[in-house]
Amino acid sequence: MNKRDEIIHIPEEELLSQRQFAEEFKQLPERPQTYFIVTYGCQMNAHDSEKLAGMLDGMGMTPAPRKEEADFVLHNTCCIRDNAERKALGNVTWLKEVKKERPHMLIGVCGCMVQEPGMAEKLLRQYPFVDVAFGTGNIHQLPELLYRAAETRRRVVAVPEEQSTIAEDLPIRRESLFQSYVTIMYGCNNFCSYCIVPYVRGRERSRTADDIVREVEALKKQGVQEIMLLGQNVNSYGNDVPGGVTFPQLLRRVTETGIPRVRFMTSHPKDLSDELIAEMAENPALCRHLHLPVQSGSNAILQAMNRKYTRESYLEKVEKIRKAAPDVGLTTDIIVAFPGETDRDFEDTMDLVRQVGYDSAFTFIYSPRVGTRAAEMSGRIDPALATERIERLIALQEEMTQMRFAEMIGRTESVLVTGQSKRDESQFTGKTSRNISVNFEGSADMIGRIVPVKITAASKTTLKGKI
Ligand code: SAH
Ligand code: SF4
Ligand code: F3S
Repeated sequence: MNKRDEIIHIPEEELLSQRQFAEEFKQLPERPQTYFIVTYGCQMNAHDSEKLAGMLDGMGMTPAPRKEEADFVLHNTCCIRDNAERKALGNVTWLKEVKKERPHMLIGVCGCMVQEPGMAEKLLRQYPFVDVAFGTGNIHQLPELLYRAAETRRRVVAVPEEQSTIAEDLPIRRESLFQSYVTIMYGCNNFCSYCIVPYVRGRERSRTADDIVREVEALKKQGVQEIMLLGQNVNSYGNDVPGGVTFPQLLRRVTETGIPRVRFMTSHPKDLSDELIAEMAENPALCRHLHLPVQSGSNAILQAMNRKYTRESYLEKVEKIRKAAPDVGLTTDIIVAFPGETDRDFEDTMDLVRQVGYDSAFTFIYSPRVGTRAAEMSGRIDPALATERIERLIALQEEMTQMRFAEMIGRTESVLVTGQSKRDESQFTGKTSRNISVNFEGSADMIGRIVPVKITAASKTTLKGKI
């Protein structure tokens, strides 16, 4: 290990001590036997939940079919927008009633929300039925925290002040046998003015390329067909490592393992390099999809958002991608009603959406987050106007999606078959390399395989096809 690895990795002794807590937990009389994890938010959280489940399995617990029946219910929360936070807190509160009937039940809250300034205190004060609360930086301590809560029947709260570490080799219970998440970096350094993520996920920390490649090799051996590399801004992968591997170089190494499909999320437009575009064009194992959040089509708003690119430079990059790899589908995130957004600014966004022609877009109404710079800005937009804008944007994007889907009819796509319809057993569903869902008639042996499907029709959000 070099010096940086020593600083950044959670020491082996600490992880060993957690394994001991897991063993001691198993010996506790009347310990919780079953668990249920409720996950909110993005892929980062979904993947964290896989790690949390892996640790709970390692403590001798088993998943419960429903949360009302579980001995331990853990809420892995998100705080990206106010509604995400309210939903999580609402569901935690709802469990209070269930716990009255089942007093042995333990309730846990973890994830980004717990990492917000003041939230741990609020949980202690206003949510006395919460037994365990911990932040995104304490995930690896779950065995110890739950052991303490179960043994003492007293409340346990752990939130690190600073997040600067990486925990390698945590056990993982993966949700899917053929699609897997692999984190390549934690945290974010960008401080977009509206965003809470840098405050709740800490500074950028890249995993070493060797650790990542080792994980992918192991997944390939298990038969995984597709991996999704995760980071808030994958394009700055390695920037925190002196003389480190760049993101395009990492992609090359990861695809050299022979894993059939590789995706990644999210690319920040400011750091999208020519090198990455070239790799996308040349490397057939890279999926034909790029999520490139634009947030706004107005330069004034982009500047106020601290996004560090302009409408023009964004469109220039889109042009380059289209030229180098015309079959790559673009998707995006857009925020409407950012403070000070004028009609003109919004029309610029509409215009950009028309110009790019995304396959799909996630659209959000701006939600002020305490502690961020935008929350202090004047020029709040009237909610009725915000709703009107987002509705117009969604309608426009639906048109664009239909246009893109129409182009795909008649083509034959490689589809990773992910499941069978519950309503009609002859119907199967899967994803194209471009990340679009396709429904088709198939057979159960196809699940987990990549098969050619001819696209025959399109509905609003999915394609229809024939094997
Ligand atoms: N790291 C990713 C995004 C993570 S958050 C990136 O930079 O693209 C996912 C999306 O949530 C963002 O792209 C943004 O569109 C939206 N978002 C973040 N903060 C928000 C806020 N305060 N209000 C509304 N939408 C927000
Ligand atoms: Fe938030 Fe910006 Fe970081 Fe994405 S890049 S997580 S939007 S601060
Ligand atoms: Fe993701 Fe929400 Fe946290 S979007 S990083 S789970 S605040």
